Amino acid sequence: MQVRRCTVVFVEPRERLDFDLGRLVAGGTGVAPVREWIALAAHLDEEILLEDDEVRVLGQLSPGNWTDFEALAASLDKAVLGRLIEKGLLIRDTEDSVDLCRQDDEVRRGYWRGLSAALHRHTRWHAIDTLEAERKFGNETDRPFLERLGSPEPPVCERVEADKRIALTRPSDTALEDLIRGRVTCRNWDASKPLTAEDFSATLFRTFAARAVSDEPGIEVIKRAVPSAGGLHPTEAYLLVQNVEGVMPGLYHYHPIDHALEPLGDVAPEESAELALRIVAGQRHFMNAHVVIALASRFRRTFWKYRNHAKAYRAVILDAGHLSQTLYLAATERGLAAFITAAVNERDIEEIFGLDPMLEGVLAVTGFGWRGELVDEVEFDPLGSVWPNGGGMKKVQEE
Ligand SMILES: Cc1cc2nc3c(=O)[nH]c(=O)nc-3n(C[C@H](O)[C@H](O)[C@H](O)COP(=O)(O)O)c2cc1C
Repeated sequence: MQVRRCTVVFVEPRERLDFDLGRLVAGGTGVAPVREWIALAAHLDEEILLEDDEVRVLGQLSPGNWTDFEALAASLDKAVLGRLIEKGLLIRDTEDSVDLCRQDDEVRRGYWRGLSAALHRHTRWHAIDTLEAERKFGNETDRPFLERLGSPEPPVCERVEADKRIALTRPSDTALEDLIRGRVTCRNWDASKPLTAEDFSATLFRTFAARAVSDEPGIEVIKRAVPSAGGLHPTEAYLLVQNVEGVMPGLYHYHPIDHALEPLGDVAPEESAELALRIVAGQRHFMNAHVVIALASRFRRTFWKYRNHAKAYRAVILDAGHLSQTLYLAATERGLAAFITAAVNERDIEEIFGLDPMLEGVLAVTGFGWRGELVDEVEFDPLGSVWPNGGGMKKVQEE
């Protein structure tokens, strides 16, 4: 049997508070700090608790070449090696380890920077309900929000006194300015009114379509509405279409060169909102958006050029941000509304659309549709662009 250490693993010395009834009975709070080694591997979803001897042996294993297990056991503690195999950090070339091997290979083949790979793998959510978590937290404390968190940092980082500032002229209004001022994150949808096919396809086109394709010696690159590191555009749009004229409710992938939908499965109308809710981690205020879009980064597209690069993961996240803002503006121009959220159940989304987290990872969820007439959920609209009563915020003073 040959073995090899997984390609990326970080070991965190972590302290947590442990409650013990015995300690409480003996007097005191019953709570005591416990220090542990936690392994965060880029091919495993779970965090793994390690013993001291496992950490020591792990540090002596090569992630490079396959080695004969018995040869390794001649110089390292065999029982510890066995435990590392059980924990999935030392990988065997045997039949029963095929899945583990594949998961590790996907990280190896992805040109990941180690730190980014571990960060990405271990910041994904599964079955989180953010509203429920908020409710629970609210029940645990009756202290108001500000008291709990203390004051936030001020909105502006002022570096000089006011009289030292050089005033700049404000630009006159333009169509772009109107569009910018009309952009308000939507949390109230009109589910009774389907989106027209034209609004649907125009918003997708403006945001995600390839305007040109160029084939620079063997490298096909597309031109989109947004900038992208290396011009590589790794971000894919996976759609849950809920309420669009002429489009069957269901799951789709958007093809940016053909400007076409690739059907990935129907969704029964009565199941759609539940699915949307699972995607946006229980945020009911996004559940009824007519179109919900998971932005998933095809990492290898960008990492192919920026191999093991310290900035590459940051670059693909920025890509999702650019697309989201473009979607907001494209929707706003047509009188529609949009949203984005980073509080999403990435692992559920991977399951729904059949994505491998290290090859095509979910970074955010955005969406668009008709805004409702009533405010059930507060929106932040201090300019009164959408809601006549605004959001109770004062406007920035115009000279
Ligand atoms: C990266 C990112 C994550 C966000 N996540 C959430 C979220 O989880 N839930 C939510 O209701 N809004 C979310 N928003 C929307 C913001 O709350 C919103 O942009 C902010 O309140 C300002 O309102 P505006 O977009 O109308 O200007 C997110 C926005 C961004 C850019």
